[in-house]
Amino acid sequence: MHILHVVGARPNFMKAAPVLAALAGYNGVRQTLIHTGQHYDANMSDIFFEQLDMPVPDLDLGVGSGSHARQTAEIITRFEPVVTDRRPDLVLVYGDVNSTMAAAIVCSKLLVPVGHVEAGLRSRDRSMPEEINRLITDQLSDLLFTPSPDGDQNLLREGIDHAKIHRVGNVMIDTLVRLLPRALSHRPVGLPERYVLVTLHRPSNVDDLSWLGLVLTGLAELGRELDLAVVFPLHPRTRQRLSGLDLPALSGNHFRLLDPQPYLSFLALQQAAAVVVTDSGGVQEETSYLGVPCLTMRENTERPITVSMGTNHLIGRDIGRLRTEVSRIRAGERKPTGPIPLWDGHAAERIARVVTERL
Ligand code: UD1
Repeated sequence: MHILHVVGARPNFMKAAPVLAALAGYNGVRQTLIHTGQHYDANMSDIFFEQLDMPVPDLDLGVGSGSHARQTAEIITRFEPVVTDRRPDLVLVYGDVNSTMAAAIVCSKLLVPVGHVEAGLRSRDRSMPEEINRLITDQLSDLLFTPSPDGDQNLLREGIDHAKIHRVGNVMIDTLVRLLPRALSHRPVGLPERYVLVTLHRPSNVDDLSWLGLVLTGLAELGRELDLAVVFPLHPRTRQRLSGLDLPALSGNHFRLLDPQPYLSFLALQQAAAVVVTDSGGVQEETSYLGVPCLTMRENTERPITVSMGTNHLIGRDIGRLRTEVSRIRAGERKPTGPIPLWDGHAAERIARVVTERL
């Protein structure tokens, strides 16, 4: 049995790592790992393969950056001959990035079965490119592995046959559970004890420079008032945008701008943060598991279970709300949270079982 995995962007790597490892435990399973090259900087890609103990990809398609159309088309063009040549029995795709959707399109046209890991998530916001990627990938997939009940419900509502849906839990949490003990010794040195950890990279937050300026100035003020540092690892897109801004707030003592962090240091940073402010999807999940308060600067989330059962609060584009919530958290207010079912470190084992039984 030949299973081909496709990864391309940073958040794919921690999802694929446990599935590769779980399937490696089965006799007669041959695995191929293809990197599309959507992310290519060493600190956005290579370091993750090392820290996650992932095999070196069998092939890197080297697609690089570009507009959505160009990047997606490039992945489709370069991935098609790979599938034709290697004829896998199943292709596994992860998450909601352009590489995920592009690979699913190629496979469905070549009649090669596709399994989608992290299926069924919906923000219902079609201005997000990831929502388009999710909708298309799920429609084209033969096996849909969901992390939570809302995922199953979304898929059923869209007419997906329930026999294709397998609720397995959250593979990203598998990686977190495995590597948290190792991460604790990777906290970057020289950081203050108490800090707000910030990650912002979505176009809706970073492409509007006046909004980005307001957010950063607001965070710097808040940091000064509450005696909290602001630690902000910068995604390449955010760093590019910041170069067009002249913000006195950033030069103050309270602000620490960092390069993109490797997996283990970022996990350590989350674990020790007073609060995390983000627009990432995975960070909403990781903070919920860690019990660290998370403020998500978006109007919606495709991961509602992190709000209903985890530590996540949706605060939208609202600086007033950001101030209120950080102050509340600083004053010790916490909402009740509980362990999220199946976010237990064993999701990939459940995926491997379904895959090997089905093929
Ligand atoms: C992609 C995903 C997003 C995910 C994010 C995590 C899509 C549609 N978006 O967004 O869902 O949350 O990855 O990081 O797939 N760049 C570099 N070096 C790199 C990669 C990118 O400098 O290694 C810069 C380039 O200028 C590029 C920009 O970042 O144009 C954006 O990269 P891209 O892959 O298009 O999307 P992300 O914003 O990273």
